Amino acid sequence: MIQRLRDFTVLGLETSCDETAASVVRGCPPGPGTILSNIVLSQLDEHSPYGGVVPEIAARAHVEAIDSIVEAALSESGIAPVAIDAVAATAGPGLIGGVMVGLTTAKALAMAWGKPLIAVNHLEAHALTARMMAPLDFPYLLLLISGGHCQVLAVEGVGRFTLYGTTIDDAVGEAFDKCAKLLKLPYPGGPKIEALAREGNAKAYPLPRPMKGREGADFSFSGLKTAVRQIVATSPGIDAANVAASFQAAVIESLTDRVVSAMRMFRSAHDVEKPTLVVAGGVAANRAIGDALRKLARDNGFAIQIPPPALCTDNAAMVAWAGVERCALGLFDPLSVGPRARWPLASLSSP
Ligand code: KG4
Ligand code: ZN
Repeated sequence: MIQRLRDFTVLGLETSCDETAASVVRGCPPGPGTILSNIVLSQLDEHSPYGGVVPEIAARAHVEAIDSIVEAALSESGIAPVAIDAVAATAGPGLIGGVMVGLTTAKALAMAWGKPLIAVNHLEAHALTARMMAPLDFPYLLLLISGGHCQVLAVEGVGRFTLYGTTIDDAVGEAFDKCAKLLKLPYPGGPKIEALAREGNAKAYPLPRPMKGREGADFSFSGLKTAVRQIVATSPGIDAANVAASFQAAVIESLTDRVVSAMRMFRSAHDVEKPTLVVAGGVAANRAIGDALRKLARDNGFAIQIPPPALCTDNAAMVAWAGVERCALGLFDPLSVGPRARWPLASLSSP
């Protein structure tokens, strides 16, 4: 097969949200890949006074940082531009100002170095990260849980996905962040809620388990946020740790119910003896959620892979690896390719 002939070395850029990141990865599908450098500059301090990411601030910060981040990624990797096979950048979905910065930079480098350009879908990058960690054959089941995305799908190949379920309102990370805001915890709320939940009683507040038992694998989290808002507004002297623990327990029960449903859909579509569930996105860093999913996988005959937190949250190594996957298949993009605020996985071109 063409993929196994040789290693590919790709520079990847990620600027779709509030991280300015660049990375050089070398490898060959189906993995693993070697991360030669992985530089991530978080803009957290710039956004946290506003309780969320401010698009204009993000775009400006990306412009200021991108050149030095790319320089750092190249020098740490020890790879000269001449030895790079392609330049990859997130081309969407994401905050359009930020995506433009990364994609334009990648175009300039590709042109200056005479290398091909790869316009990476940010969701595909999250979806393929597991193969950078260890060899993993298609198809596998992916649960993508982050601040902007909440979906469960079959990854059948590069550019080939079947969506089983998505959120009908908020993403799960967004729900963590909003619940944290109600409890007056700083942004991003996910890690704060997780820490607080460890000290609380998960049975203290009876919260809804959204979508539990429903057909299909769609998610919903806005009702849960509303329920938390009501508790905070109507119960004087609430115990924040108990609210956090009750909230996290409700999220876990809702998530696991939806994933079991998706596992059934995957099994009826794919004849794989021991399928794998891959979990990606920032919320995959949550230990309680990870433990619940590990147990769920065991109980349902699935293997499970959760990349380390630094590769679950937004980073450029995943973009570079998606570039390696596309490079191996000769899937390059013209310099005229544009940034996209919205870019569903289902609309990706497959080889
Ligand atoms: O993937 P990511 O870095 O960015 C995108 O949204 O694309 O994910 C960030 C999200 C935030 O909503 C954050 O609160 C959530 O992931 N998060 C967590 C945890 N760590 C990050 N949520 C729950 N528990 C965590 N430990
Ligand atoms: Zn992401």
